[in-house]
Amino acid sequence: MKNIAILGATGSIGCSTLEVVRNNPDRLSVRALTGGKNWQLLAKQALECHPDLVVIADKSAYGDLKNALSGSQIRVEAGDEAIVAAVEVQPLDAVVAAIVGSAGLSPVMAAIDKGLQICLANKETLVVGGSLVMQAVKRAGVDLLPVDSEHSAIFQCLQSAQTNPLHKIIITASGGPFRQFSSGQLAAVTPEQALKHPNWDMGGKITIDSSTLMNKGLEVIEAHWLFNAAYDNIEVVVHPQSIIHSLVEFSDGSVIAQLGWPDMKLPIQYALSWPTRWSPPLPPLDLAKVASMTFEPPDTTRFPCLAYAYEAGRAGGIMPCVLNAANEIAVAAFLRRQIGFMSIPAIIRKTMDSFSNKQVTTVGQLLEVDAQARETATSLLSAEVA
Ligand SMILES: NC(=O)c1ccc[n+]([C@@H]2O[C@H](COP(=O)([O-])OP(=O)(O)OC[C@H]3O[C@@H](n4cnc5c(N)ncnc54)[C@H](OP(=O)(O)O)[C@@H]3O)[C@@H](O)[C@H]2O)c1
Repeated sequence: MKNIAILGATGSIGCSTLEVVRNNPDRLSVRALTGGKNWQLLAKQALECHPDLVVIADKSAYGDLKNALSGSQIRVEAGDEAIVAAVEVQPLDAVVAAIVGSAGLSPVMAAIDKGLQICLANKETLVVGGSLVMQAVKRAGVDLLPVDSEHSAIFQCLQSAQTNPLHKIIITASGGPFRQFSSGQLAAVTPEQALKHPNWDMGGKITIDSSTLMNKGLEVIEAHWLFNAAYDNIEVVVHPQSIIHSLVEFSDGSVIAQLGWPDMKLPIQYALSWPTRWSPPLPPLDLAKVASMTFEPPDTTRFPCLAYAYEAGRAGGIMPCVLNAANEIAVAAFLRRQIGFMSIPAIIRKTMDSFSNKQVTTVGQLLEVDAQARETATSLLSAEVA
């Protein structure tokens, strides 16, 4: 029995993780659940799987959550510090890191320091703190297992590598709903249109990131840290059907790919079951039904966020943290209809340009940069038009 904590249980990945738990009741036991604001769903999940602890980040929701769980013997806590402390619940073997954004960094660092296995969905953790996270992983000797479908694919492909070095990583991208839009059409895109992803059912922020190709940019930085790959050896190819989740090329030119339906239950389950494989969480892949698979290069003129992410990743230091913070602010403003779709890359560009790069050595310093970059990006919002 593997004892797990699900951080971000009320989100899309959190809910899919609970489906994996439901399918594997004799293998997985939930000891802690955390949510951001959605106390109703968190209470429902807790009453179903009886963890020892539930934590809600929003302190104003504590009373409602506590009432909903009265008489259940489940400990209830609230606030950011309690989210970080959730990884101290015992017994615990693994943490599913599914909080969205840089808010996920501190809980992941705490889980690494506790020596827990990390099933990482929260890519922003590696974008913001890649160097410090990887140092901590090495120090603690923990397994950092990718949940992101592309990185799960690369991780699985690399298992055929033996001692051979990888030559190139090829990350697939669906291209999002606006793949064929002109620049003029992109300028008029609404949040409703952007929230309709053609293949994947995901949380709001990552769905917008997919439509700007920032998601792919964040994944390039994530792949750099997870697989110790140089940016020149990480390529992105648009594959609108999202059946090939990513590929690895070896030095003899052989290319290995991992395929599957676009559904997060499989990569979540594989992170939890690794190194073994459990019964399939989905119907088998039917290639005749898929019928055709197509590929094209990404267009960084219409979708500059991908180029900005490569630039920030190559620059290193605080730049990926600045890129991520500006993106989080711009995406939230777009969803509030405060700015237009093309203002997202504009704000990221201007925020990056207003920071001088430097190296930082602690998570505290990174969080300061994150706060400053959010302030800069916020101050730029009023100059943009909705
Ligand atoms: N969805 C996917 O298919 C997918 C695929 C690959 C990678 N990922 C990555 O996985 C992460 C989660 O994605 P998602 O789509 O599941 O997002 P989501 O549906 O928006 O869920 C985010 C979760 O984080 C919680 N949360 C938000 N802000 C928080 C804060 N400040 N402190 C503590 N908890 C907070 C939310 O709580 P409330 O809802 O209760 O407010 C929710 O539980 C992201 O980093 C994303 O890039 C997602």
